[in-house]
Amino acid sequence: MNVSDAITKRISTRAFLEKPVEHSLIYGILDTARWAPSGGNLQPWQVHVVTGTAKQRLVDTVKKAIADNPFADESEFQIYPPKLSDPWRTRRFEVGEAMYETLGIPRDNKPARIAHLLRNFEFFGAPVGLFFSLDRQFEKGQWAHLGMFMQSVALVAAENGLATCMQEAWSARAKTVAKFFDLDDTQQLYCGMALGYADNTAAVNSLRSSRVSVEEFTTFINE
Ligand SMILES: Cc1cc2nc3c(=O)[nH]c(=O)nc-3n(C[C@H](O)[C@H](O)[C@H](O)COP(=O)(O)O)c2cc1C
Repeated sequence: MNVSDAITKRISTRAFLEKPVEHSLIYGILDTARWAPSGGNLQPWQVHVVTGTAKQRLVDTVKKAIADNPFADESEFQIYPPKLSDPWRTRRFEVGEAMYETLGIPRDNKPARIAHLLRNFEFFGAPVGLFFSLDRQFEKGQWAHLGMFMQSVALVAAENGLATCMQEAWSARAKTVAKFFDLDDTQQLYCGMALGYADNTAAVNSLRSSRVSVEEFTTFINE
């Protein structure tokens, strides 16, 4: 698979097969992704990988935390601006609606929508969960560089026939996750990622999100 194919074929996969992923394969993905660029070569990323019983313990821990306090919000940063304006607001709305349409869940079926959201905290059934964190001293630049690293992980995973879903949803339980990993206070959790083999029979994985054209976000200047 060439780079262009990996970029265009990678999607957010939200249903996985139980089939485990070999440790050597996970290691190999990270071993390639570490060549992602970062300003000043800071390589600001830290990664925690959970599989097997560790993954299940984390899922159970977070599930209990949610049951104990369903409305707790442990996020340390806003995932979206509180008053997200257009065109971004519409884009967010449209992809969400398109996703629930694949699942056959209408807008007024809130319990079913919440149940699907909660699948985030089971990695959508993926056998591997990754968490990306970075030092609290880091600024916007280093956060952007971590994003490059995460996309590299997703692309190398795609090259290896694996599927991913990046998961900012975990930030709602950031403190619980940080405690689980015994994360140093200097470290801030940014994002989770589900990794595994896609369940191609699952309707939710039929979603293909759209993109605006190059003209909509690019200004070409030549004189
Ligand atoms: C940093 C990041 C965090 C995301 N967090 C979540 C998440 O918590 N749950 C989820 O279902 N999708 C999540 N997504 C997936 C986006 O909704 C998805 O990338 C977008 O709709 C485009 O679709 P595509 O990835 O299939 O191309 C996240 C994506 C990124 C890049």
